[in-house]
Amino acid sequence: MYQFDISAQSKTELYSDLLSALDALTADEPDPIANMANAAALLFEYLPDLNWAGFYRLIDGELVLGPFQGKTACIRIAMGKGVCGVAAETRETQLVADVHAFPGHIACDAASASELVVPIVAQGELIGVLDLDSPTSNRFDAGDAAGCETLVRLLAERVSA
Ligand code: SME
Repeated sequence: MYQFDISAQSKTELYSDLLSALDALTADEPDPIANMANAAALLFEYLPDLNWAGFYRLIDGELVLGPFQGKTACIRIAMGKGVCGVAAETRETQLVADVHAFPGHIACDAASASELVVPIVAQGELIGVLDLDSPTSNRFDAGDAAGCETLVRLLAERVSA
């Protein structure tokens, strides 16, 4: 069992604590799925106001559902489709304040109102995306995007096969 000291007073501290925890969880484990699974569990537990946290992996040119926490989700997403597909195709973080206003948004959980998707790139190769959903609109801000990009940079080499 792992014990984490995550009692951050600010968003910057929260992501700093999460980075330390994620480092401790994944540093010695070479299996990408195990690392994605623990990362999803960590983020779902400690980031407030989420209804889904997890990964889609790029396999044979499409995104395939990976380890996650939350309700069952769409299994395959084509590049360029939905928030995840756009993040994967552009390799740019997608910060969506209102998913219903995002053209082509894929509604896996009807409760989702806002979404943050960060592409995962290791050694120039797209590995997949980290996807966070919230039932609250406008839940994510630039601090969350920057924080998650830092987490993903740490994780990238540890979730690539
Ligand atoms: N809403 C995402 C699909 C994945 S689920 O949110 C888990 C999208 O539009 O890509």
